Amino acid sequence: MLILALESSCDETSAAVVDMERDSKKILSNIVASQIEIHRRWGGVVPEIAGRAHIEAVSGITHEALDSAGAKLKDIGAIAVTNSPGLIGALLVGMNFAKSLAYSHDIPLVPVNHIKAHGAAAYLEYPDLKPPFLALIVSGGHTCFYEVKDYTDWQYLAGTRDDAAGEAFDKVGRVIGCPYPAGAEMDKLASLGDPAAITLPSPALHGTLDLSFSGLKTASLNYLHNLAQKGVEVNREDMAASLTAAICGGISEKASAALEKTGAKTLVLAGGVAANSHLRRSLGELCSKKGVDFCVPSMSLCGDNGAMIGAQGYYEFLSGVRAGTDLNASAN
Ligand code: KG4
Ligand code: ZN
Repeated sequence: MLILALESSCDETSAAVVDMERDSKKILSNIVASQIEIHRRWGGVVPEIAGRAHIEAVSGITHEALDSAGAKLKDIGAIAVTNSPGLIGALLVGMNFAKSLAYSHDIPLVPVNHIKAHGAAAYLEYPDLKPPFLALIVSGGHTCFYEVKDYTDWQYLAGTRDDAAGEAFDKVGRVIGCPYPAGAEMDKLASLGDPAAITLPSPALHGTLDLSFSGLKTASLNYLHNLAQKGVEVNREDMAASLTAAICGGISEKASAALEKTGAKTLVLAGGVAANSHLRRSLGELCSKKGVDFCVPSMSLCGDNGAMIGAQGYYEFLSGVRAGTDLNASAN
């Protein structure tokens, strides 16, 4: 069946058409209109500006997604839309547009959770992937482990108690002059630096599977402020490499413990920070050591996109999930 999917939870407006069957999953189109350039001058996402930019983009990119898929609305079996979590004003734009299309063309409307959708991106590229598995979603707002019992049954296992890993990359990257969002640039800088150059606290908490990135973020920012006060120029590559080593080390330690605790045979890594080459490598190595299958979407499916919403939307549709015109958004 063809699913038209819409995503507008943060700073990317995206529309996609995916062709989903039990044995075959194809992305027919996946159009992403990024607002990064708009928010860059503010150093982060400005929620009201995000909502306004979504409203300008949503209709055009939906037409583009249908056209490049060679599909018409009459071919669409369901419309999937992100309704949580995210910025309320941003979510409402995609949702309201999806509701109107669904209502006016009598197409079933399926609400989708953005976090589950990040994980579902993996189904699009690993045809044999099936629950149960352990999912690790690492993004600008989330760093969490879930036991995925079934396609729609995700149980929270552990995660950060404060900031997300992406936020640590973005905030520290900003101070060393990386444009927003800093993750991709920090990834490149880290490859050129010495991961042992700066001693930073581990984000892995003792006696629990949970993580905490706020101490690591503060320690990194303090280190940078101290250097600035002394008039010493920071080695950006070493800063990026040391922060990356702390983040990857902490996440890998907890991933190892989570795999042991759950006995999972597959680890799915997804979310914007799953694009990080160092994290992909350390978790890949961990899984091969443990004899666990490792699934991570390709780079273009790690960041926010409509295809992942369509993938999760398909399984929500199969399990009978439908929304009416009273569907609301939820920030958390
Ligand atoms: O999933 P996503 O696109 O949006 C949210 O749902 O949050 O994730 C965005 C986050 C940002 O913090 C960005 O800096 C980070 O993903 N990111 C990366 C890389 N590419 C994007 N972080 C580290 N390394 C990367 N290569
Ligand atoms: Zn996301």
